[in-house]
Amino acid sequence: TDARIPHPAWRLPVLGDVLGINIRTPLQNSVSIGRELGPIFERNVLGNRFVFASGADMVAELSDESRFAKHLAPGVKALRGIGGDGLFTAYNHEPNWGKAHNLLAPAFSQTAMRSYHRTMLDVAGELVDHWDSRDSDSPVDISADMTKLTLETIGRTGFSYSFDSFEREEQHPFVKAMVGALSHSQRTTFLKSTALGRVLARRADQRDEVRKAYMAEVVDEVIRARRTSTEPGPEDLLELMLRAARENDPNRIDELNIRHQVVTFLVAGHETTSGALSFALYYLSRNPDVLAKAQAEVDKVWEGEEPAFEKIAKLRYVRRVLDESLRLWPTAPAYGRAALEDTTLVGKYPMKKGDWMLVLIPSLHRDPVWGNDPEAFDPDRFLPANIKARPAHVYKPFGTGERACIGRQFAIHEAVLVLGTILQKYTIEADPDYELKVAERLTLMPEGFNLTVRRR
Ligand code: HEM
Repeated sequence: TDARIPHPAWRLPVLGDVLGINIRTPLQNSVSIGRELGPIFERNVLGNRFVFASGADMVAELSDESRFAKHLAPGVKALRGIGGDGLFTAYNHEPNWGKAHNLLAPAFSQTAMRSYHRTMLDVAGELVDHWDSRDSDSPVDISADMTKLTLETIGRTGFSYSFDSFEREEQHPFVKAMVGALSHSQRTTFLKSTALGRVLARRADQRDEVRKAYMAEVVDEVIRARRTSTEPGPEDLLELMLRAARENDPNRIDELNIRHQVVTFLVAGHETTSGALSFALYYLSRNPDVLAKAQAEVDKVWEGEEPAFEKIAKLRYVRRVLDESLRLWPTAPAYGRAALEDTTLVGKYPMKKGDWMLVLIPSLHRDPVWGNDPEAFDPDRFLPANIKARPAHVYKPFGTGERACIGRQFAIHEAVLVLGTILQKYTIEADPDYELKVAERLTLMPEGFNLTVRRR
């Protein structure tokens, strides 16, 4: 028998379930609604219906690529103004997805990581110089510095372009434009589903056009500089795309799509990793035993030296700290899945072809399969034996299937390298009065989180 999908009791005509919504934290609102309504529920926001699913059994089915595929939820669709048919925002049927995926997948293999290792170390070194140049009693704004670091890393490894992040007091204008465009797209998604909202958004839309034009100009300049350079280009993402165009590769993509890919990688390649690093540092600072163990591992494995490539993956415990941080706060917290044919989810919830749901990852990561204290931070949940004891498809910080994160290895190598570097060189200490507050932009990020870092 078909079951009804529960929804919050307080429902207003027109506005839908906006009562009780803190517009700044829609994702965390959904997680708390889920705590009451269970592993599947729906919300109605300004006439838009959202179904959230997070039960382990449901997500296992939604991960079945023969029945379901990626769906661009409204928040992601809104990013097409920036990312176009780039990898992240492409519809499954768009030919540029397959071409760019084939073209760029080799740049994200485990072997490719080797070639980024030196640059990642250099950027981590700049973070260290930056921290060493301050008065060691003044706390550092962790999310701000992690964002500088991750943007710098993707800029240099992907496009051999530096934003000079650590030399600037102010954000690079490209970053300002990018952040502005991201929050504009998120803020106006629902507003623009009504006629009045579209009028209200007009001024902001005009400002957004200016930002997007500026971003396009910067990216085109990077591409032009590379094209006209007489030196052979470095082997980076941009070179893979330009070479395919030069050599008439069947997977070649045109100039506009190259621009979309560059912007996509700059955005997708830094916010999420920055958040992951920030949450990991938060949990390290709050769990002295974990911190001591992680630090001991780094000292033992790296022997006080700069790590060779192989020594990153050897930090097994630091990796578990990262995995566990991404369990509690998966920084890209939801993804959409649509039914390929009429079907019934877990034998109870009928779906028509094209019907879609959002997988609410933080709730999935607190499903009963994770034990009876899912809020507890415990890296040992990721010991191999414990992973094996859980069903598949209960841990999805990087999404699922064909459209899962292409940058997963990249993010993990970078994050473990940076955590190791920080642990190797500093003691870290959080303000004991700080209570974790999570800001929602496109991604999740600790807000107002500072650490006092002192040279060991
Ligand atoms: C896709 C998470 C780092 C590039 C995704 C998806 C998730 C995700 C959940 C799937 C979204 C969906 O199904 O709609 C994360 C997290 C990261 C991270 C949590 C860090 C901790 C990176 C990095 C890069 C990157 C470092 C690039 C260097 C991409 C791209 C896609 C993607 C291009 C789209 C793939 C496709 O559809 O073909 N990511 N990501 N991500 N990610 Fe990541």
